[in-house]
Amino acid sequence: MHSRKISVFGLGKLGATMAACFASRDMHVVGVDISDKTVESINSGTAPVSEPGLSDLISSNSQRLSATTDVQKAISETDISFIVVPTPSKDDGSFSLKYVSDVSNTIGRALAKKSRYHLIVLTSTVLPGSTQYGVQPILERESGKRCGKDFGICYNPEFIALGSVIQDFLNPDFLLIGESDKRAGNLLEDILKSVAQNDPPTQRMNYINAEMAKIALNSFVTTKITFANMLAEMSGKLPGTDVDTITDAIGLDSRIGRRYLKGGLSYGGPCFPRDNRALGYIADKFNCNSLISESTDQFNQYHLENTLGIIQDHTKVRGSIAVLGLSYKPNSNVLDESPGLYLAEKLSAIGYKVKAFDPVSMENVREILKDPIYCAESIHECLSGVETVVIANPDAKFSSISAVDIHQNQRTVAVIDCWRMLRNELENKDRIVYVGLGIGKQSTQHKSHLAKIWNA
Ligand SMILES: NC(=O)c1ccc[n+]([C@@H]2O[C@H](COP(=O)([O-])OP(=O)(O)OC[C@H]3O[C@@H](n4cnc5c(N)ncnc54)[C@H](O)[C@@H]3O)[C@@H](O)[C@H]2O)c1
Repeated sequence: MHSRKISVFGLGKLGATMAACFASRDMHVVGVDISDKTVESINSGTAPVSEPGLSDLISSNSQRLSATTDVQKAISETDISFIVVPTPSKDDGSFSLKYVSDVSNTIGRALAKKSRYHLIVLTSTVLPGSTQYGVQPILERESGKRCGKDFGICYNPEFIALGSVIQDFLNPDFLLIGESDKRAGNLLEDILKSVAQNDPPTQRMNYINAEMAKIALNSFVTTKITFANMLAEMSGKLPGTDVDTITDAIGLDSRIGRRYLKGGLSYGGPCFPRDNRALGYIADKFNCNSLISESTDQFNQYHLENTLGIIQDHTKVRGSIAVLGLSYKPNSNVLDESPGLYLAEKLSAIGYKVKAFDPVSMENVREILKDPIYCAESIHECLSGVETVVIANPDAKFSSISAVDIHQNQRTVAVIDCWRMLRNELENKDRIVYVGLGIGKQSTQHKSHLAKIWNA
């Protein structure tokens, strides 16, 4: 098989990693972005975004990977183009097609000057109907060519998680392809199979089923996370319970599974909250009941407020609080809809003295968190002198915090551990009030409350 020539439009968190992964699998890749800085970064062998392993992957494959702002050049030099530009959420929960339309216009005009067949693959997350009624008409109009004959289109979303994009992209659970026609689907399946390291199963379908499947999958995962968070809240009150014991057990049932079933703080990030809301938007548009996605979204926000209440219950008015973990998840510098960031800002607005630290995202955090929130330089500095510590994301670095680190002064410190990382180290230690989210209180009051139900 001759080496594939691929262009990737949009070299952000997903696109830059995809481009580098294709190059690492012996394909010739031309990346395209409207940002000169991003293009220069790729051409100088460095990562334009922060993602573990990406800089190494780009520099070690630089002979097969280049970037440009020149759309015509990218289309004429390659056979397949992936579109990975943003599709930002609008206030009503839908996704804007503005960037996808812009890039489709320029690709269409470039296709007009090309005689060979070309495959366009939309990877950006879009809502049902977008490929058929948004992208295809633009490409046909601007190129003056016919989809299914002169060129093909596929909708091929990715199910990667930030922080493990390379591993996830190269080892997908399955390949999802919405295709304009068999030729387009065959070509894409062929490429994706040769990129994957794990021989994944493929699901091929029309565009709209693939568009629905993408947001349905993310929405389902948010509901699963939220179910575990609901169990965590209940377990926090039922004496003797422990959410991990419960979810570890039920996760062994093959109908359920353990992944994304750990009670903790609310979910956040650039995909989950908005994809779930978008499913609700589409349901509403067709007069279908969107109760499940709406209540997942509402519970997620409620859970955050409830955690805020727990923190306040353990801190005196205007007391000092350390919030550890500001990215929406570990190993990522992304702050979109981050629960830790929300807590830090909210606690400060209420009047607490807040110190904040994250092992990965402090550069971004400093741009957002303003005075009077103090941005610490280290875990140690963040912990010094505070009355309450909140572990907001399960970064592995927090698991080495000891009672000695927390006791930098004589006072009693409350530790609100949303992920129960420090349970073994801190539970039952002197001058530490350890509150593991989802661990039942053993107080007499809680026990008698439970007993009363059965002694009535
Ligand atoms: N980041 C994720 O975890 C993730 C996961 C699955 C799906 N997605 C989807 O992938 C898409 C891209 O997400 P992202 O996080 O990589 O976005 P991003 O904002 O990190 O990157 C987008 C890139 O596209 C570039 N761009 C904008 N308009 C362009 C144009 N006309 N031509 C060329 N480049 C252009 C921007 O300069 C930027 O570099 C979105 O639809 C998103 O929902 C993202």
